[in-house]
Amino acid sequence: MIEVTALTKRYGKKTALSGAGLSLGKGIYGLLGPNGAGKTTLIRCLVGVLRPTGGTITIQGETGYLPQKFGVMGSLTAYEALDLFAELKGLPREARREEILDSLARVGLEDAEKRRVKALSGGMVRRLGVAQAILGDPENLILDEPTAGLDPEERLRFKNLFAQFRGRRTVLISTHIVEDVESLCDHIILMNGGRILTVATADELRSAAQGKVYSVPVSERENLQKPFFLLRDELAEGQERLRVLSDVEQPGQRIPATVEDGYMRYLKGAV
Ligand SMILES: Nc1ncnc2c1ncn2[C@@H]1O[C@H](COP(=O)(O)OP(=O)(O)O)[C@@H](O)[C@H]1O
Ligand SMILES: [Mg+2]
Repeated sequence: MIEVTALTKRYGKKTALSGAGLSLGKGIYGLLGPNGAGKTTLIRCLVGVLRPTGGTITIQGETGYLPQKFGVMGSLTAYEALDLFAELKGLPREARREEILDSLARVGLEDAEKRRVKALSGGMVRRLGVAQAILGDPENLILDEPTAGLDPEERLRFKNLFAQFRGRRTVLISTHIVEDVESLCDHIILMNGGRILTVATADELRSAAQGKVYSVPVSERENLQKPFFLLRDELAEGQERLRVLSDVEQPGQRIPATVEDGYMRYLKGAV
């Protein structure tokens, strides 16, 4: 359980987090927002690395944490690195070896036990970071961009791993990639400009853009009706089309909205 009220963080004159309020129970929460939204600042306040300028934080239970920049001494083996974290977490010695091997296996690093960290790929170090976060099976898991820099297969593995915590633990996962959260997270916390814009399900985000997304032939570019937001150029049935978000009728056809369309609609301040 994690509760936050009126949380604010200023770095000098820069307000990175402004009056954030959240109440997280058991479930998987995606913290979604563009770079600079304030995700890392919020997370660092939650785990106590940063001291907030104002507001309150209440956390029940132990918290496992993966920082956005996870690193560990390269001369250690993967096993030794986790043993160090186990020591810091105060895990009982008897169960330690078993827990470490279990964590390694859960992130797919069972063969890396004896390999030195400096010989691991970036994606593997990321996975080692997740292994230390889940070590000891904490009540809360807070992961700052766990899928950054991972290939599609590794992303899928992580999604499956995190899905195992559903309904059992409080999991907060930050990302700037909509695809990461839409199939995995029970709730999506949208952040931008240091504020929490909304907490919604993927379906609710999609609904926010339903009926407002148009596929417009490029030849009609000049005839677009203001106000509109150009989502992207895309190929539809082999033709180049403009994907447009707008509250007013556009010279094209309405198409079904995606979660990403809903996300963009919130970011553009139109909801
Ligand atoms: N140590 C710092 N000093 C000054 N500004 C910072 C510092 N850390 C982050 N910021 C600023 O705070 C804002 C939020 O940053 P951050 O929390 O890292 O966002 P995110 O994780 O969503 O990309 C950004 O504008 C960033 O430049
Ligand atoms: Mg960040």
